[in-house]
Amino acid sequence: MKTEVSTDRAAAVELLRKGEIVALPTETVYGLAADALNPIAVAKIFEVKERPRFDPLIVHLPDRAWLERVAKICSADRQLIEELIDRFWPGPLTLVLSKREIVPEIVTAGLDTVAVRISSHRVFSEIIRAFAGPLAAPSANRFGRISPTTAQHVMDDLNGRIPLVVAAGPTMHGIESTIVAIRTGKIEILRRGPITAEQLSIFGKVNIVTAEKVSAPGQLPSHYAPKTPLRLVEDFDSFLPKPNQRCALLAWNAIENDERFIAIRNLSGGKDLREAAANLFRYLRELDGLDVDLIVAEPVPDQGLGAAIMDRLRRASQGSLDARDRPG
Ligand code: TXA
Ligand code: MG
Repeated sequence: MKTEVSTDRAAAVELLRKGEIVALPTETVYGLAADALNPIAVAKIFEVKERPRFDPLIVHLPDRAWLERVAKICSADRQLIEELIDRFWPGPLTLVLSKREIVPEIVTAGLDTVAVRISSHRVFSEIIRAFAGPLAAPSANRFGRISPTTAQHVMDDLNGRIPLVVAAGPTMHGIESTIVAIRTGKIEILRRGPITAEQLSIFGKVNIVTAEKVSAPGQLPSHYAPKTPLRLVEDFDSFLPKPNQRCALLAWNAIENDERFIAIRNLSGGKDLREAAANLFRYLRELDGLDVDLIVAEPVPDQGLGAAIMDRLRRASQGSLDARDRPG
């Protein structure tokens, strides 16, 4: 299959109506979209991404009127949910709610909950409104790989497997949406993201549910893996490469040159966590492409948006350990 890269929104809508899958920009990362109410279209997402069927997808809504067509909101949690929606939608907050019958099993991997959000990206929003129905859209990478923040990243992973990538420049946040579930009046963070625990705590008690405890099978510790092994090095000053080991550095404290590393990427010159998040996956992909033996990552401050970045770095280091153990 030939993959087109274009800005043609009408072509995207037409393909989606025909039950095809299309890569689209969102404000977080590029997504791979299909008609959420068409199980055959959704099955193509799993095939193309090589994603296990037990990993449920996020459902993107054209507008708020669609919320209660796909999800049930219990009266005890309604006020809190509406406050969160008023504050953060459209935007990078995904809510896990009870699902309605209309949502096919394949979308939720058999769970009785559905994850929903409304994207604030202008292009995504235009396309989903023209489509006039919910779109299932996970990140547009192959399973277990780094999420794409540019159309080129999508091509690197999926060229030849999908008909169209709608291009709209690099994504704004650069990391995936924050996922929360509301349980008995508490906000449980299932995945950290651009909306921070600090921001959410204004609305209620926040509980961060660690990967091991999570009911979402997609929260595997080895997500976001570059091919190159990655190590988070706390005491970066005393790090020494092994003889002949070629290392690259993903830095938080900006530096120009360091002979221990053949390449350096500074996440943010001015130590701005938003800039660091937006650069994170692009730099990881760039360093991964250099064919070094090890990517050394310097920790960022583990709070606010930094906690979401650290979460990705920990998983990346986990994933690359797994990859090293895998044969071939
Ligand atoms: O920013 C984002 O969220 C991007 C853009 C494209 O919207 N999407 C994204 O999707 O990151 P994906 O599939 O890569 O990650 C979705 C995560 C998975 O870890 C999955 O397990 C979790 O959402 N998830 C989906 N449905 C769920 C549910 N019913 N309960 C708990 N977790 C769920
Ligand atoms: Mg993903």
